[in-house]
Amino acid sequence: MKLEDLVTPALVVDAGALDHNLRTMSEALPGARLRPHVKAHKCTALAARQASLGHRAFTCATIREVEGMARAGLGEDLLLANEVVDARRLARVEARVTLAVDSEATVDVAARDGIREVVIDVNVGLPRCGCRPDRAGRLADRARSAGLLVRGVMGYEGHAMPIEDREKRREVVAQSMALLVEAHAAVGGEVVSAGGTGSWDMNEWATEIQAGSYALMDTAYAKLGLPFRQALFVLSTVISKNESFAVADCGLKALGMDHGNPTIERGRIWFCSDEHASFAPEAPLSVGERIRVFPAHVDPTVAYHERIHVVEGEDVVDVWPVDLRGW
Ligand SMILES: Cc1ncc(COP(=O)(O)O)c(C=O)c1O
Repeated sequence: MKLEDLVTPALVVDAGALDHNLRTMSEALPGARLRPHVKAHKCTALAARQASLGHRAFTCATIREVEGMARAGLGEDLLLANEVVDARRLARVEARVTLAVDSEATVDVAARDGIREVVIDVNVGLPRCGCRPDRAGRLADRARSAGLLVRGVMGYEGHAMPIEDREKRREVVAQSMALLVEAHAAVGGEVVSAGGTGSWDMNEWATEIQAGSYALMDTAYAKLGLPFRQALFVLSTVISKNESFAVADCGLKALGMDHGNPTIERGRIWFCSDEHASFAPEAPLSVGERIRVFPAHVDPTVAYHERIHVVEGEDVVDVWPVDLRGW
């Protein structure tokens, strides 16, 4: 099959760029130094590629992701880096599962529902989840008294990721990790899990980095000048055109837009609506032509699609189900 045969909008990954990204990361953070986050691609075929490069431990955001990874034989060490208030499904997964907890309530849920291992999730500056650093030790005590094994701490410094100035980004990462290190001293355990694509080469405090976006990349991360290439795009067809603008057939239902407009190669996107992307072309183009639309945020973009088409040049060489979608 050729790219031109795909029904658009179609999610496409460039095999060469993906391979470059996976290898670059694995060379810098080999084996257990990287705990790839599967939320960014939601695809066990892609996770298997990461595993083949030596990463056996993964980060997940949903119970569905944990279940899918276990079913795919990738369940050696799965961290659900998120709080849940019902862990019964999670406890039934046949895999090594570690659950994040950040309150008395979530510790009690883990113990009640038969979870064996937890990490204490610490708020390191992003109002996401996580307890106050000075409460981490007490939560760890409560977990241990309830019979849970406390493997250590996690804390995601997501607020540092979009900072374009590298030095400023490093400062915010350092401040965040000082909080995590403080919490770790009170909690104990071997794991200090943190980091992402924006801090992959500067988070020296974490024992493992939870990066996910690096594999496929998006235009938000492209601004940081990282050595990872934009491997993912949405193939789209120009369906209308006049003297001043053109319209392609991919819109809000095919693109994660919370990080802003997507980009295209020879033109500028004006705006996206449900099924349309209106843009100003910078070169002549005709109705029926295909364009590559690069999303600003990879995670929600992938979650809109059922499959990822893997291409080498103009050839579609594989089709990977986005099999970790849903809840
Ligand atoms: C808990 C957690 N860890 C790590 C990441 C890192 O992801 P990324 O590679 O997109 O920076 C995320 C992203 O949202 C996250 O939620």
